[in-house]
Amino acid sequence: TRPLKVALLGCGTVGSEVARIMTTQRDDLAQRIGAPVELAGVAVRRPGRPRPGIAPELLTTDAEELAARPDIDVVIEVIGGIEPSRTLILKAFEAGASVVTANKALLAADGATLHAAAAKAGADLYYEAAVAGAIPLIRPMRESLAGDKVNRVLGIMNGTTNFILDRMDSTGAGFQEALDEATALGYAEADPTADIEGFDAAAKAAILAGIAFHTRVTADEVYREGITEVSAADIAGAKKMGCVVKLLAICERSADGESVTARVHPAMIPRSHPLGGVREAYNAVFVEADAAGRLMFYGPGAGGAPTASAVLGDLVAVCRNLVNGGRGPGESAYTELPVSPMGSV
Ligand code: NDP
Ligand code: HSE
Repeated sequence: TRPLKVALLGCGTVGSEVARIMTTQRDDLAQRIGAPVELAGVAVRRPGRPRPGIAPELLTTDAEELAARPDIDVVIEVIGGIEPSRTLILKAFEAGASVVTANKALLAADGATLHAAAAKAGADLYYEAAVAGAIPLIRPMRESLAGDKVNRVLGIMNGTTNFILDRMDSTGAGFQEALDEATALGYAEADPTADIEGFDAAAKAAILAGIAFHTRVTADEVYREGITEVSAADIAGAKKMGCVVKLLAICERSADGESVTARVHPAMIPRSHPLGGVREAYNAVFVEADAAGRLMFYGPGAGGAPTASAVLGDLVAVCRNLVNGGRGPGESAYTELPVSPMGSV
């Protein structure tokens, strides 16, 4: 069987772990997929940086040329941000490749364009890593729950802010000190404003609301408050009441099904509540559906290796589709619904 060729766009916190796992698990992956998978090129901004385990001849600064190479089967985009990532993904589809991305900012700003390009190309678009790191959530919602009626998705969807709030609560660390630690551990976005001001959680809420309610929601439609106004006094006050402060994302379908609400803001949660016990950079998301009832998804929500796990799962799915002649789930047929910030919680 001919090897499947993979282009890796970005080799930072997530990309370097993707490359490492592709190398160390090469034989197992080939066996699971039914064909060898080969890293055919790696696009970065600064080629002179040390990249342990990456053959120097694979490196390029011309991401566009790599994404559009006709011999590439799968493009993994882990650069982040809107541009050049959107252009690169569109080039990849035009060239006939399938795409795996962790880019929630782009999906929440312009997922419609990506889905349309994938459909036009007859290619796959997978993005499990875009929401909640290692936790399988997108695939269960796109596939396993597609026959149920989801009414609410609620939880902690940003690891960096949870890490900061947890450190402030448990060790009395200052905000900046905890943020610096989260950044050093690879949890924060390239610009951590996205985390602490709630943009990252809003992007994830938009993606999940779109999938859950078979509609389209963009990040700018999500009501958003971050954690920069949460003080040590707020956390101490919550503690006295047996509570912790958490950054929650809440998406709901209205009772008549005619609109949806999506919002992100800090909230006091009883310590005894399952969300109150979420520590470090873990995420926890409740999904409530008519037939399934209440499901809880919990696990590491950020960091290089956990996120790479989700990327690799998508890579295997795409490669299996290529080998077997199948296709991924694609975008659900959708209805445009108005989005408002207020709901019943
Ligand atoms: P990093 O900033 O660590 O890595 C970004 C990579 O992209 C770097 O290798 C950088 O090159 C490369 N890059 C930047 N611009 C260009 C360009 N124009 N052309 C080619 N390469 C470029 O980011 P992360 O790995 O943390 O995040 C990547 C994506 O994964 C983002 O979409 C993020 O939101 C998402 N994500 C991240 C998680 C995490 O915990 N970190 C979790 C879930 C999702 P160089 O190395 O030379 O600087
Ligand atoms: N910066 C993000 C977070 C990465 O802290 O949750 C995972 O999406």
